[in-house]
Amino acid sequence: MKTYRIALYPGDGIGTEVVSATTAVLDTVASQGGGFSLAYESFDWGMTHYEAHGRVAPDDFLATLRRFDAIFLGAVGWPARLPDHVTLAPLIRMRQAFDLYACVRPARTFPGVAGPLRRTEPIDVVVVRENSEGEYVDNGGVVAMGSPQEVAVQTAIHTRRGVERILRFSFDLARTRRRKLTMITKSNAQRYAYVLWDRVLQEIAPDYVDVETDKLHIDAATLELVRRPHTFDVIVGSNLFGDILSDLTGGVTGSLGLNPSANLNPERTFPSLFEPVHGSAPDIAGKGIANPTGALLSGAMMLEWLGQTTSAARMRQAVERALAAGHATPDIGGALTTTQFTDAVVANLVP
Ligand code: NAD
Ligand code: IPM
Ligand code: MN
Repeated sequence: MKTYRIALYPGDGIGTEVVSATTAVLDTVASQGGGFSLAYESFDWGMTHYEAHGRVAPDDFLATLRRFDAIFLGAVGWPARLPDHVTLAPLIRMRQAFDLYACVRPARTFPGVAGPLRRTEPIDVVVVRENSEGEYVDNGGVVAMGSPQEVAVQTAIHTRRGVERILRFSFDLARTRRRKLTMITKSNAQRYAYVLWDRVLQEIAPDYVDVETDKLHIDAATLELVRRPHTFDVIVGSNLFGDILSDLTGGVTGSLGLNPSANLNPERTFPSLFEPVHGSAPDIAGKGIANPTGALLSGAMMLEWLGQTTSAARMRQAVERALAAGHATPDIGGALTTTQFTDAVVANLVP
């Protein structure tokens, strides 16, 4: 029987709550004839580690993670106790050091879950976020800090190779779905970086004539994702735009707590990283009411990536069945705790 080694990085706030829910469901799926097992090692990185050791993760945390088949993260950040750019640094570091350049963030409506929009057409989109460069490159500096003359410079980096590989990844993904790709930029104002995206799209689109291709600027995209979200299929954008759009797609489908993500190294040179799209939600942390759906579906994405497609489908189906039966945490209008909802998902696993 195959055993996968999984590194758990529960992190802060509700991160720990949704990771416990996910391992409970994953273990049940594996034990019900899944034909595989999961060997976890959990790390206390984040605020807990910081308070004990003065840093959020050990210096060699990347070398530690490298040995695993996959990494599962809850959420990081506790801004009241530590500035976010400190707590969040290891997450961005993993994405870049492990070349997890394809961040895949599906968002869909579920029968049984009401969304905030008046329109009722089902929404089923995937935001593909360039995850290794762009606006998230650690490139800049500050001069004359604290003085009235202070200058801060932060320069994004977009490479032809980086843009081309994420666009090709997105076209390939669109081919497995409704064959529609929308590229998001701001090339009307940012005339170097995003015009590169426009040029690369134009160059490679002839290789994908079977995929309907469209472009929107980020401002128009935010409008259209509220006005006609059901018309989108695969949406691709830079690191920052993908981040913003994936909170928006969470919002329009009913709750940010519903949305999973996979940070993939498609070449499989490094372990890929799976995490819900949401953050540590300090406003509800410790109350036991976080919606674990985004984390559970991230767990299913991890199983899929590891090749356990049947178990991944069982897990997705159990979540859908639980939601359709009206089981719900408060963010989607219910009254269940995280644990009660998780139990409902387990009860809905079809043998
Ligand atoms: P957030 O995603 O944590 O929360 C936004 C809102 O959505 C809150 O009202 C929260 O209660 C709600 N929410 C989020 N997830 C939910 C869930 N599973 N169930 C029910 N409700 C849920 O965003 P924020 O408040 O802007 O950020 C909080 C912290 O998380 C910050 O430190 C931020 O930097 C960090 N953050 C981390 C990640 C990550 O680890 N990948 C992602 C986003 C934000
Ligand atoms: C996300 C988060 C991160 C990001 C933060 C925590 C650095 O918002 O994963 O969406 O901006 O990428
Ligand atoms: Mn985000």
